[in-house]
Amino acid sequence: MLATQFDNFEKGSLFRSQMNSLLGTGVFNADGEMWKFHRSMTRPFFTRERISDFDIYDRNCDISLTQAKHRLAEGHSIDFQDLVSRFTLDSATEFLFGKSVASLSAGIPYSPSSGKENASSFTEHASNIFVTAFQEGQILAMNRMGFGTEWPLAEFWKDNIAPLRKVMDGFTGPVLAAALEKQEQDLKQEKDTVNDEDLTLLAHLVKHTQDPKILKDELVNLLVAGRDTTMCLLTYSFYMLAEHPDVEKRLREEIFEKVGPTGRPTYDQMRDMKFMRAFLNEVLRLFPPVPADARTNNKAVVLPTTPTQPKPIYIPAWTTLVYSVLNKHRRTDLWGPDAMKFDPDRFLDERLQRYLIPNPDIFCPFNAGPRICLGQQFAYHEATFYLVRLLQQFAGFSLDSSANAKPPAEWATSEGRKAIEKIHPCSHLTMYVKDGLWVRMKELDAMGI
Ligand code: HEM
Repeated sequence: MLATQFDNFEKGSLFRSQMNSLLGTGVFNADGEMWKFHRSMTRPFFTRERISDFDIYDRNCDISLTQAKHRLAEGHSIDFQDLVSRFTLDSATEFLFGKSVASLSAGIPYSPSSGKENASSFTEHASNIFVTAFQEGQILAMNRMGFGTEWPLAEFWKDNIAPLRKVMDGFTGPVLAAALEKQEQDLKQEKDTVNDEDLTLLAHLVKHTQDPKILKDELVNLLVAGRDTTMCLLTYSFYMLAEHPDVEKRLREEIFEKVGPTGRPTYDQMRDMKFMRAFLNEVLRLFPPVPADARTNNKAVVLPTTPTQPKPIYIPAWTTLVYSVLNKHRRTDLWGPDAMKFDPDRFLDERLQRYLIPNPDIFCPFNAGPRICLGQQFAYHEATFYLVRLLQQFAGFSLDSSANAKPPAEWATSEGRKAIEKIHPCSHLTMYVKDGLWVRMKELDAMGI
C-alpha cells in the first residue's frame, strides 16, 4: 500500500475534505501534483549538512532545562511533555522558518495539584493560545473521521475548526509576512536572493509561490510535523526512563563514554551511540508518534496472500483503509513472545537477526515508500541531543502520580496495555499523554553521580 503499489493508494478526497479546514493543501493533505510540489520544496532542507547544525538545539535545550531546574528547585513537579513541546516548537520554527516563535519564553505551567495558579502572562502568551487551538483543531479533525462521508452533516451550520485555524494563522502570520516582505525587497532590488544554501525552507517556498493560502497551509503542516512528533518521542522516552532505571544508567554510561559529562554531542558521536539509537527505536516501537494512518485506493485492488491471511482480499475502489502502526509494532507473531516488553536490546541482540532483518517492514514509525518521513534524521538528532543534555544534568527520574491523569480502569485488565498502565496515552493526528506528563528529577551534581 505504501511502497510497491503507491500509485493505487492516495490520501483520497474524503480524508482531504475531513482535514481541509485544519491542514488545507499542505504536504500531509495533498495528493498528485500538489503533493509533489510540497515534497520537492521541502526535501532539500533535510540534507546532512543542514540537519547537522546543532546550535539551534543547544540554545533551546539550555533554556528548557534551565526552566526545569528553577521549577524543580521551587519544589514542584514539571510537565515534561509541555517542556519538550516548547523545545521542539522553537527549534522547528527556527530551523524551518528562520525565526523562533519563542514559546519557551512564556515559562512553564504549574500542575493542577500544586495549588499554584499559572500567571496570566503565561496563560495569555501568544504561543499558549496557538498551542491550545492547534491541539483542539487536531482533535476536532479526527472526530470528523468517525462520521465517515456524512461528516459535513455534523457541522451543517458551522465549520468547527475554521475559528481555531484562524487563531493558528494569526500566530504564524508575522513570520510569513516577514518572509514575503523580504522576498519583495529582493525582487525590487533585482537580487536573485542569496545563495540557495543560505535560505530557510520558508524563504525558499516564497520564492516559488506567493499564494497566501498555500503558504499558510504549509506552515501548519510543518508545525504538526516538527513539533508534535518529536515531542511525543521525547515524552515517552522520559516515561520509559522513569520506569526503567537500569536503562537510564546504561544510557548515561554510553553518553559519558562517547561525549563526556558536559560535552556537546557531534554528528559522529551520535552515530556511535548504538544504545541510544536502540533506546529511541524501542520507544518509537511501543509508542509510535503517528500511531495510525489511512489511505484510499483509487482503483479496485487485490491484496496478496500472506501466511496469516491465506486468501487474497478484494477491495473495491475508493475504500478507506485505516492501518495501525501501533498494533503492528506490538504483535507477538512479528516481534516474538516478549513484544509487549520494553527492551532496547531487541534492536541489538539476536532478536534483530531473527525478526527485524528478515522482515524490515515490521518497524515503520516513519512510514515507508515515496511518502516516507522527510524529518526522520532531524528527529533522531534532535531527540538524541536533548536526551544527552538531560542525562548529563539530571537523574532520579520519577512520575508525579498526584498530577498525572490515570488511564481508564478497563485497560488494567488488558494484557496489551501493561506497558502503558500508569499514564493515559491519547492520540489525534499524533500521540500524546493526556493532561501532560508530570515528573520530578534531581540535578546530577546533587546526587554525586
Ligand atoms: C519522531 C519523529 C517523527 C515521526 C515518528 C514522524 C513520522 C512521520 C510519518 C508516519 C509520516 C507519514 C505521514 C503520512 O504519509 O500520512 C511523516 C511524514 C513527514 N514528516 Fe515526519 N515524523 C517525525 C518527525 C518529523 C520532523 C521533525 C519533521 C520536520 C521537521 C518531519 C517532516 C515530515 C514531512 C515533511 C512529511 C511529509 C512526507 C510526505 O507526505 O511526503 N517529520 N512523518
